[in-house]
Amino acid sequence: MYLMILGAPGSGKGTQGKLLAEFLKVPEVSTGELLRAAVKQGTALGKEAKKNMDRGELVPDSVIVGLIKEILDSKEAARGVMMDGFPRTVAQAQAVDKLLAGKKAKVDRVVLLDVAEEELVKRLLARAAKEGRSDDNLESIKTRLKVYHEQTQPLISYYEKQGVVRRVPGMGSVDDIQKRAQAAVKA
Ligand code: AP5
Repeated sequence: MYLMILGAPGSGKGTQGKLLAEFLKVPEVSTGELLRAAVKQGTALGKEAKKNMDRGELVPDSVIVGLIKEILDSKEAARGVMMDGFPRTVAQAQAVDKLLAGKKAKVDRVVLLDVAEEELVKRLLARAAKEGRSDDNLESIKTRLKVYHEQTQPLISYYEKQGVVRRVPGMGSVDDIQKRAQAAVKA
């Protein structure tokens, strides 16, 4: 099963995506985590991505599409994958569709986490105080939300046309949200 978890920054994609992947017995892959690891290791990819990430902007599609190809072509993803944080633009979605079509597969479900903007900001600032992630500051958070509305939200109608979107209220406890997400992927 190929799934995608979609939502604004702080909506719980990572938290819920990992649990949902365990439940469905598919690997979870996050482009955000892969990029942060590349930054930490100081690789060429990390060096190229860091500036965009710190500002809260997207890393260029040209960089990400290569990464997505690598992920979807890997042995681990041969029988499905939970995609966290990608695709994020229509160009990336088209690239995913094309790569999956080559494997006679498609995106089976898109779990859309619905969280009020106030709560998103509260969660990200709380994480900033604990973990100090370089893009969890008010200025970058504002940019990340703007980028989400402008570049990623159009994917909702892109995937609604394919009939695969399932909306999940993303407020409340992690467990309650997970129960809703598990029910939603089966629906
Ligand atoms: P990415 O890592 O994907 O970050 P993001 O979309 O901003 O999302 P977050 O990781 O902040 O939040 P989340 O929705 O995963 O929620 P989480 O579970 O962590 O991307 C980072 C950057 O990398 C991008 O800005 C871009 O530059 C680049 N990038 C990545 N992918 C890209 C792509 N495909 N194309 C181009 N560029 C790309 O939860 C957030 C916090 O809330 C945590 O502290 C968590 O503990 C807490 N929390 C979770 N659930 C709850 C709950 N129910 N109640 C209270 N707190 C909760």
